[in-house]
Amino acid sequence: MEFVRKEIEVSSPEETYNIAKEFAESAPAGTVIALIGDLGVGKTVFTKGLAKGLGIDDDVVSPTFTIMETYDGGRLPLYHFDVYRIGDVSEMEEVGFDEFAYGNGITVVEWAGLIEEIIPKGTIKIEIKKDLSKGVDYRKIIMDKTEKEGYLS
Ligand SMILES: Nc1ncnc2c1ncn2[C@@H]1O[C@H](COP(=O)(O)OP(=O)(O)OP(=O)(O)O)[C@@H](O)[C@H]1O
Ligand SMILES: [Mg+2]
Repeated sequence: MEFVRKEIEVSSPEETYNIAKEFAESAPAGTVIALIGDLGVGKTVFTKGLAKGLGIDDDVVSPTFTIMETYDGGRLPLYHFDVYRIGDVSEMEEVGFDEFAYGNGITVVEWAGLIEEIIPKGTIKIEIKKDLSKGVDYRKIIMDKTEKEGYLS
């Protein structure tokens, strides 16, 4: 089925979590999710929801000292990347990004904009935005699918 661009407005972390959970429940193997948005916008909250939707019981935390963390035990493995501290895209090669991203799990990348040039075609781009005029817990979540490799905008 063709992926249709969606814009969802939420007003709590629980809603963001639940959107991610529902997304993960039906996500096919090989799905790559590029999370885009400012510090503290909710990328890790979204990732926690993905894990829940896959049936993973472990608590997902941001991989601070490693670029990547794997979570097994769910319907599919979850490969969680946080590339905030990456110096150069070549570091992604060292951790074997392509093997994960073109593999059969679910790959999620926080700060995906920093590695745009290696983002696979067909990645689901999820941008989370605040709008303080609508409250501190308000977020707009925009979901879209990329049409070519190395492209997020
Ligand atoms: N609607 C919302 N959706 C998600 N998080 C929200 C929402 N409203 C408030 N929050 C809060 O915003 C914070 C989001 O933190 P989170 O660690 O998920 O952000 P992040 O985008 O991963 O940040 P970082 O860039 O540091 O990795 C949490 O404290 C969460 O409770
Ligand atoms: Mg985070």
